[in-house]
Amino acid sequence: MAAASATLVKWMSVLDANNAGRIHGGTVMKLCDEAAGLAAIRHARRPAVTAAVDRLTFLHPVFIGEVLTLRASVNAAWETSMEVGVRVESENPLTGEVRHTSSAYLTMVAVDEHGNPATVPPLVAEGEEEAQRERAAQERRERRLAERARERSREDQSAERRQHTQPT
Ligand SMILES: CC(C)(COP(=O)(O)OP(=O)(O)OC[C@H]1O[C@@H](n2cnc3c(N)ncnc32)[C@H](O)[C@@H]1OP(=O)(O)O)[C@@H](O)C(=O)NCCC(=O)NCCS
Repeated sequence: MAAASATLVKWMSVLDANNAGRIHGGTVMKLCDEAAGLAAIRHARRPAVTAAVDRLTFLHPVFIGEVLTLRASVNAAWETSMEVGVRVESENPLTGEVRHTSSAYLTMVAVDEHGNPATVPPLVAEGEEEAQRERAAQERRERRLAERARERSREDQSAERRQHTQPT
């Protein structure tokens, strides 16, 4: 299956901003999550949940009145999870100036009707650019899963320590 994608466009209003007139980072994060979710659902044709957000950069501020465009595409698909890359651009509609304001990588997991991980179709990279994106996603997955394993082992160790220090 070729890489699924999604594009969301939203005109930023005062409701999306803080008192300084800048758009909240949380507004951008939520939109990234929505765009990634839509791309993942289109790939899996199932509901998908966010398992992890790897990296979310804020390169420039976004202001009230600007138009945000979020482009999400599935970089790689594994057994039940997918990495979705999101690129965010802001446009000042008065001047036409467009800036790359954020990028993010999200891990989305397809789920069945009970909320358990469900298999997704493989992604067939089309062309060298998609193949390169898939290889980079694979490297990030390895780092992510190694970190998850380290965290789990730390949690297990501290649970064990708590058990041993509890009064009998
Ligand atoms: C995401 C969730 C379904 C994973 O369930 P789980 O029982 O931990 O399942 P698994 O360990 O089998 O992981 C499922 C897949 O997710 C991947 N995954 C899970 N956590 C991950 C993490 N932190 N980073 C990267 N990948 C992760 C696993 O590698 C596996 O991928 P694969 O099948 O493609 O190899 C579960 O943790 C969950 O429901 N979390 C809450 C999600 C949520 O509410 N999100 C916010 C609102 S949408």
